[in-house]
Amino acid sequence: KRLVFIGAPGAGKGTHSYKLQNTFCLCQISTGDLLRNEIRAGTLLGKQAKTIMEKGGLVPNEIVINMVKNSLMKPDCAKGAILDGFPRTIQQAQKFDEILKSEGLSLFKAIYFKIDDEVILERLGGRLVHLPSGRSYHTKYNPPKIHGKDDITGEDLSQRPDDVPQTIKTRLENFHSQTKPMLEYYEKQGLLVTINAQASITNVWRQIKDVFKSGK
Ligand code: AP5
Ligand code: ZN
Repeated sequence: KRLVFIGAPGAGKGTHSYKLQNTFCLCQISTGDLLRNEIRAGTLLGKQAKTIMEKGGLVPNEIVINMVKNSLMKPDCAKGAILDGFPRTIQQAQKFDEILKSEGLSLFKAIYFKIDDEVILERLGGRLVHLPSGRSYHTKYNPPKIHGKDDITGEDLSQRPDDVPQTIKTRLENFHSQTKPMLEYYEKQGLLVTINAQASITNVWRQIKDVFKSGK
């Protein structure tokens, strides 16, 4: 099964794609994580992306589309994949459909993480991330076992450079103007499922598992 996770910054896409990946042995394709890996590796692509991401803008289509294409071809994605943060514009969604079609693959569902803007600031303000893996924690809602350290590697957690008020504002504006119109695109295909992303992590996880287990 291939699923697309759509949602505002801080809606919980990363948290739940990580859980889904581990529980059902799928692969997770997070364009945000892939771009952050490029930045950490200091590649040319990473340098281009860094400036844009720090301002909360969208990275050019051809960059993200290529990254997704390459990831989809990996053997561990053959069984299924969660696309976290891609597509995020109608153009990307159309392009993604072309890729799926050319590979003879199909999309199971597009899950929309519905959440009010007011909740986002608290979510992102308290977020701590393990940059190498993309795992995220929250000081209040999902605290790591040892303060400031990743549960699995014990390495330091940090704040994401784009989790600052001005950048959060721009990311949210972009979500409303560029990503939200895409919901209709999936609605028309009968693939859109909206979940209440404002509930607790346990509750959201249950909603997602139910969607995943429904249908073939
Ligand atoms: P990306 O990394 O995808 O960022 P985003 O979309 O802004 O989303 P976030 O990662 O901030 O939020 P999330 O939904 O994953 O929330 P999380 O689970 O961590 O993209 C970053 C940038 O890369 C973009 O701005 C853009 O520049 C570029 N980019 C990426 N993809 C692109 C594309 N396709 N095209 C062009 N550019 C692209 O949760 C947030 C916090 O809340 C955590 O602390 C978590 O513990 C907590 N939490 C989660 N769920 C709950 C809950 N139910 N209750 C309480 N707390 C919760
Ligand atoms: Zn994320």
